[in-house]
Amino acid sequence: MRRSIIHFSLLSLLLVLTSACEKTPVPSEDPDQTVLMPYREAVQSLGAGLKGELQKAMKAGGPLAAIEVCQQKALPITQDVSNAQADGWIVRRTSAKLRNPANTPLTEQEAAHINSADFTADSEILEVVQKDGKPHHLYMKAINVNNPVCLNCHGADIKPELAAKINQLYPMDKATGYQLGDVRGAFVVYAPIEE
Ligand code: HEC
Repeated sequence: MRRSIIHFSLLSLLLVLTSACEKTPVPSEDPDQTVLMPYREAVQSLGAGLKGELQKAMKAGGPLAAIEVCQQKALPITQDVSNAQADGWIVRRTSAKLRNPANTPLTEQEAAHINSADFTADSEILEVVQKDGKPHHLYMKAINVNNPVCLNCHGADIKPELAAKINQLYPMDKATGYQLGDVRGAFVVYAPIEE
């Protein structure tokens, strides 16, 4: 199977691969940006949607109420962002320490990256993988604990009533004990490509 793992710095290799496959020339000026841009835009859109909902919920009812809002709205928002992309695209989030089992990696490659010690706060990965028997781009970008607000629900010292609520909604929760600056997970995009 032809497979290549390309970190950001090695993107030129991928460009050769994909441009050969797709038979469409990749514009030569700033080619790295050209390939990554739609993926970056898709995950920015998901990030903005989730952030907006979280901020609204925290303002309205504090973290206890916001947990329920996250539980009810995070997946529908994710689905909406996926649906707004080109056919066959999947936009999602995952983590090495999951809270929501629905965010479990969809492929071995996604799992391998998120569980790798090499996946750090500035990681951005583009790789060609097989998904459902078809070649796809797998794009991943780190999600970091970049704001103290995250620590309310993912930190090392969670208030007892919040911890109880989290355990009630997510009995298998692993997504606590984080500190500011830690990698919390990743945005993930799958996009079918021509071969
Ligand atoms: C009010 C509580 C709360 C706050 C604050 C919060 N989260 Fe979460 N987080 C949750 C809940 C509940 C889930 C599970 C629901 C979902 O999003 O799928 C979750 C899921 C996630 C996931 C998806 C992976 C998984 O484990 O399921 C990521 C990534 C994440 N949070 C990152 C963050 C970051 C980064 C911040 C700070 C900007 C943050 N969270 C703030 C409650 C919170």
